[in-house]
Amino acid sequence: NVLFVVNGPNLNLLGRREPSVYGTTTLDEIDGNCRAWGAERGLEVRCFQSNHEGDLVDWVQRGGDEADGIVLNGAAYSHTSVALRDAVAAVSVPVIEVHLSNTAAREAFRHESHLTAVAAGLVMGFGASGYILALQGLKTLLEGK
Ligand code: DQA
Repeated sequence: NVLFVVNGPNLNLLGRREPSVYGTTTLDEIDGNCRAWGAERGLEVRCFQSNHEGDLVDWVQRGGDEADGIVLNGAAYSHTSVALRDAVAAVSVPVIEVHLSNTAAREAFRHESHLTAVAAGLVMGFGASGYILALQGLKTLLEGK
């Protein structure tokens, strides 16, 4: 089985970007943890990051064809992108939305995510470990438990 982990804008800066909000774990470390988590369970985890909205749309579409499920941190595009929401709605594999921070406890413009209504589930507020929680949730869903 193949799972995609897709990260949006500014998440390439994790580790040095507002560490009081997002923690000190880098994206390379998160990706490595996700791949290792998968390898221990016989799952291939493929990780992507882009600052460009269309790249995220492309990877969600590709995940719909090549993956069994997708973990998606759309970052700021979660709050703005109808195109990303439409891509999530278009694929038939489950998509789990992730945010490192608890966006509901932050500025009002972060309270609305276009993705939540079309995602299979949502993990937020657990920092970098949220990606593993989301992968575990995806695996549980795929096993039909
Ligand atoms: C984020 C929350 C978003 O509001 C923000 O724009 C991000 C990161 C998170 O993981 O907490 O870039 O998605």
